[in-house]
Amino acid sequence: MNWLDFWNGNHSIYVCDKHRQRHHERIGEDIVQRLPPRTGVVIDYGCGEALSAHHIARHCDRLILSDAAPSVRQKLEELHHGAANISVLAPDAVREMDAGSVDCVIINSVLQYLSPDDTEGLLKDLSPLLASNGRIIIGDIIPPDHTVLADAGALLHFAWQEQFMTEAMIGLMRTFLSDYRKIRAAYGLTCYSVHDMESMGNRLGLKAQRTPLNIGHDQGRMTFELQRLAA
Ligand SMILES: C[S@@+](CC[C@H](N)C(=O)[O-])C[C@H]1O[C@@H](n2cnc3c(N)ncnc32)[C@H](O)[C@@H]1O
Repeated sequence: MNWLDFWNGNHSIYVCDKHRQRHHERIGEDIVQRLPPRTGVVIDYGCGEALSAHHIARHCDRLILSDAAPSVRQKLEELHHGAANISVLAPDAVREMDAGSVDCVIINSVLQYLSPDDTEGLLKDLSPLLASNGRIIIGDIIPPDHTVLADAGALLHFAWQEQFMTEAMIGLMRTFLSDYRKIRAAYGLTCYSVHDMESMGNRLGLKAQRTPLNIGHDQGRMTFELQRLAA
């Protein structure tokens, strides 16, 4: 089993329903706050369940949800069938979109599951899609010195704020015995420093800037905004 098998399967990365709800509300709100007023086309790439898609869609003309896992896309299609400005696309279909047609690409909590070469290839394919003022927002980047214990601490802090502490402690024990931990031990998670992100951006003709806050609850992880370097 690799990461994509894991996401395509019947996994549970949330310790309880409240965690799942509050996670999606929090990232939905954090994403909306980063969008310029009335944005055109937004792609949420590697969107997962995207439970806050309706909220994001109220702040743009068109929201495209894209995920590599076919089972995730199928659920999204069922959920958003009939929504006027939300569509679901496979990653290959995203790559075929018109150059310059996208205002914002969100990639949150995805790149840790890709190799550096795959990430660079992905950003190389996505950057021509950007409109002249368009940007790619990459959230939840794990810095090289970030530990599993730091992840656990961030979850417990979130659980304390949102009052699901007991479930979080039980969930952490469950995670220790889960496929997630086994795959994480086998494949690891890809980490980037600020310098790594800036250098990768430069190689692709993009200026990468770390933003003061990360998207989501884990402020030990990092968010970057990438825009085309002036010609
Ligand atoms: C941790 S979840 C993040 C979901 C959502 N962005 C969030 O922040 O809650 C990672 C998601 O990325 C998707 N994914 C992994 N590799 C991908 C790739 N190469 N292209 C598109 N999606 C990918 C997985 O299927 C999974 O749904």
